[in-house]
Amino acid sequence: TNLKYNEHHRPQLHFSPAAKWMNDPNGMVYFQGTYHLFYQHFPGGTTWGPMHWGHATSKDLVHWQQKPIALYPDSLGYIFSGSAVADVNNTSGFGKKGQVPLVAIFTHHDPKGEKEGKENFQNQSIAYSVDNGNTWTKYAGNPVVKNPGIRDFRDPKVMWFAAGKKWIMTLATKDRITFYSSPDLKNWKKESEFGEQRGAHGGVWECPDLFPLALNGKTYWVLLVSINPGGPNGGSATQYFIGQFDGHTFKSDQQQTRWIDYGPDNYAGITWSNTGSRKIFLGWMSNWNYANEVPTDTWRNSATVPRDLGLVNIKGQILLTSHPSPELNKLAGKPVAIASSEIAKTGSLKVTNHIKLPGQYTLEFKLDKIDSYSIEMFNDQGEKLILGYNKAEDRYFIDRTHAGLSGFNPGFAGIAYAPRLTAASSGDLKLVVDASSVELFADQGLTVMTSLFFPAKPYQQLIIKVNKETVVKRLVLAPMKSIW
Ligand code: FRU
Repeated sequence: TNLKYNEHHRPQLHFSPAAKWMNDPNGMVYFQGTYHLFYQHFPGGTTWGPMHWGHATSKDLVHWQQKPIALYPDSLGYIFSGSAVADVNNTSGFGKKGQVPLVAIFTHHDPKGEKEGKENFQNQSIAYSVDNGNTWTKYAGNPVVKNPGIRDFRDPKVMWFAAGKKWIMTLATKDRITFYSSPDLKNWKKESEFGEQRGAHGGVWECPDLFPLALNGKTYWVLLVSINPGGPNGGSATQYFIGQFDGHTFKSDQQQTRWIDYGPDNYAGITWSNTGSRKIFLGWMSNWNYANEVPTDTWRNSATVPRDLGLVNIKGQILLTSHPSPELNKLAGKPVAIASSEIAKTGSLKVTNHIKLPGQYTLEFKLDKIDSYSIEMFNDQGEKLILGYNKAEDRYFIDRTHAGLSGFNPGFAGIAYAPRLTAASSGDLKLVVDASSVELFADQGLTVMTSLFFPAKPYQQLIIKVNKETVVKRLVLAPMKSIW
């Protein structure tokens, strides 16, 4: 297309569809040097509708090429969320001599069955590609996992469990996760359930993911579970459990509810498959509370930046961390380092003396001693986004109350909060700021917040304010080139 992707509010650092609606990322698989991203897509409008899988590919996780729609609705229903794997051993038999088929596992959602009041209108199906994901064939034996009578029965995430030489499907089943196993991606057997009495249950469970991560030579299993509503700041959000998985059951001692991102706008995220021990996460940068109403014209919604996941031990508790994937650094223009003495003088620094706005950028700082601070972005229309850390409350915040347009939904304006999860006296912050979003990574990725905002006019000013106890060690800004 000759689309310039320069519409008002169009993300410049994030994937968004060329036109029309998107929600969850789907089918993320890395194969032969290409990152595939599929996504819930309605090509007929800018609100949710009959679901297709849109498709985009990237060589570097940063620049995306839009591809033709991969999966269309059919007689079994709409194509809801799911995953994709590289079937390296051709267990499915979909590959001809020496071919490695890509296999997509997704939910068929039958709108007719739903309307008729049936309980079993969501079933799991598969499709395969033997041309690097360009074209897809649905399996004639669909569905492969039939619904036993549970209204919410969807979003299969499949992984190869090498120790047991079998595939594991992690499925959201209303208020819990159900695990299935299969030798060939076609025949599935129920293994176990997890979560009925665990974690947050303010809404239905959706879009799970299960994967191992290592910390100091020990392997832990991470279970992601999106829930809607019931997020820590209202509406949609993604919780996680750290535990162990033996090929049959998932067990976790975790007592507290944990969120991969406390902000209002990161939902339904999962990780790429076939990336080895590296786990790269991508979420949908929106919230079902207002996703259908945000003020963009030709397209609606986008993805978060890709994030590398890790683990850290905080006083005996294993917690998940997220960092913007290092590939993003490719976009960085000349970084501007600001001497800490400049901010020490008055406690306030007008950063726009150093970097030209409007434009997308990253901001990073390290604090030798953490105290309250705030970062304010604003324009000459009186619109202002404020975020930062409040020492007395020991929490981070993003205040979009007066950040811009908000009349499209009464719940949009407001302040989101997130706990600080370490007691360290030093601190650090990284922001990824785009045309209509900010992603906040604090304390080495322990606390993460993602928030949308829609200024009527781009912010031209950026001010950092610190309390006198704060000791800024390093402050670096980098203008970021557009990915388009
Ligand atoms: C999550 C979700 C999934 C479902 C899809 C439908 O945002 O509700 O559970 O498969 O969106 O588009």
